[in-house]
Amino acid sequence: MATCPCMEIESDVFILVITYNVEASYLQSGDGSSQISAKINAPENNYAYYAAHAIVNGKLHIFGGTYDSKKIARLDDCTFNELTVRLNEERRNGHSALSIENGKKALICFSYTGNIRKTCEIFDGSTTVSTFSADSTHKFGGLGLYKNQPASVGCRSVKHQKAETLSATGWTALPNHPKRISVHSLVGLENQSMLLIGGRDYGNGGADQSRIWQLKDENWSKIGELLQADFYGSAIYIDRSVYYFGYRSPYAIQRLDFNETEDLQNVARIGNQPGGFFLPVLFHTVSDYCI
Ligand SMILES: *[C@@H]1O[C@H](CO)[C@@H](O)[C@H](O)[C@H]1NC(C)=O
Ligand SMILES: *[C@@H]1O[C@H](CO)[C@@H](O)[C@H](O)[C@H]1NC(C)=O
Ligand SMILES: *[C@@H]1O[C@H](CO)[C@@H](O)[C@H](O)[C@H]1NC(C)=O
Repeated sequence: MATCPCMEIESDVFILVITYNVEASYLQSGDGSSQISAKINAPENNYAYYAAHAIVNGKLHIFGGTYDSKKIARLDDCTFNELTVRLNEERRNGHSALSIENGKKALICFSYTGNIRKTCEIFDGSTTVSTFSADSTHKFGGLGLYKNQPASVGCRSVKHQKAETLSATGWTALPNHPKRISVHSLVGLENQSMLLIGGRDYGNGGADQSRIWQLKDENWSKIGELLQADFYGSAIYIDRSVYYFGYRSPYAIQRLDFNETEDLQNVARIGNQPGGFFLPVLFHTVSDYCI
């Protein structure tokens, strides 16, 4: 029997964390042994404030946010370059972005008010086209892959429990989440299931929640607990570990380790964010990137 190579893998993982205060961005190692300041150039220090992010053609892109609700910017050599192409809708906050079609495109959906909270568009690296609107609003409902299709859950403003998924013909309902949840993070696993991490339970006064939920075979179940309840975080899945960067003091960075068959094995705290940086932009990179 081979011994577990987990630690070797984790010490090779580096995540660039671009915070809403761009000057506070940092490079985090997956084993928690280092956290180094990163130098990102942006037109303004609040450039990533409430921006959503996704990888398109191997490049990190950010979408919308408070600074400019229709902007699309690409990270090239540690500098955000704003593209001439713009989002179709104003996505100031509450929206999400997700890499689709094996990273060739991004789906960008939802926003903070009115029917924009249902709308979606697809960006292919050079153009944006509108696509099907969801049946329900999903402000801060997130986007994740479930059975290789985009899905969203809940809504920060309407506080419903609805989950739905986007196919080639439009959105269809998934089982309701057991809670009136939002401001969670959604992560698709390779094995077709989707995790829901953290968030607030608006059926319970907006309590921060620590449960790790999994939607698998059209069934929501609890598969574990965070070490600390959290919300307004961001998550990334790398080499069978999910890294969750939290917002609630002390801004813990928690790592969820899965085994080969993607069963949860352990939750560890690998450090803290240097401040209350909600919804950080995350990019899996190498050990000397932008430092
Ligand atoms: C859903 O999953 C739970 C936990 O694994 C299980 O106990 C329950 O029977 C499942 N329900 C359905 C309808 O499959
Ligand atoms: C993964 O973990 C689950 C439960 O913890 C276990 O049943 C399964 O055999 C493990 N898979 C491997 C490949 O070790
Ligand atoms: C996916 O699940 C199947 C069946 O449970 C398992 O045999 C396989 O190893 C899993 N694959 C991955 C990548 O986890």
